[in-house]
Amino acid sequence: MTLNIAVLASGRGSNLQSIINSIENGYIKDAAIRVVVSDKREAYALERARNHGIDAVFVDPLSFSDKDQYEGRILEVLDGYDVELLLLAGYMRLLGSNIVRHFKNRIINIHPALLPSFKGLHAQKQALEYGVKVAGCTVHFVDEEMDSGPIILQKCVPVFDDDTEDSLAERILKEEHQIFPEAVKLFAEGRLNIKGRIVLRS
Ligand code: GAR
Repeated sequence: MTLNIAVLASGRGSNLQSIINSIENGYIKDAAIRVVVSDKREAYALERARNHGIDAVFVDPLSFSDKDQYEGRILEVLDGYDVELLLLAGYMRLLGSNIVRHFKNRIINIHPALLPSFKGLHAQKQALEYGVKVAGCTVHFVDEEMDSGPIILQKCVPVFDDDTEDSLAERILKEEHQIFPEAVKLFAEGRLNIKGRIVLRS
């Protein structure tokens, strides 16, 4: 059986690419990305999807009267693909409760910080300004709060005195490209069990 995956992405899509590559090279087995949806018409993630023969759909938040309507349209799109796992790969909006409930325990997000530190936007900048000596990234299940669901995997990187937001983001991104596919692989193999806040691997 093939796991049907959908991806929401707002930008460049390098994390999307890491999942595409991991499926194409067999690291993640029995899974396929059926559709990539973006809230940004120009998102390079859409281009990456098309380059790999994956349906790419732009849903314009501005053409709906509120977030519920906008997300209702996204749900309609996803429903057409029998989606079993929803990935947030640089999706820069907080998901509303309708989508979260619809895909309970089946939404995975990548965040460029060691949660629960530095939630929200510009996590790498927040880490630099706070003065932490270790930063990193987190892959987690999505619940109704921002960046707060059960943690699947984390990876840390050092912070150097001469780091800029860009240099730190780049160091973290390399690790994102490792742990995001690893988490999807574990999910696809049915090896993730959620007990309250704790994710156990079997
Ligand atoms: C990544 O660093 C991802 O962790 C981050 O945006 C970047 C997207 O890059 N996500 C968030 O900050 C979510 N709050 P990409 O488009 O190349 O994957």
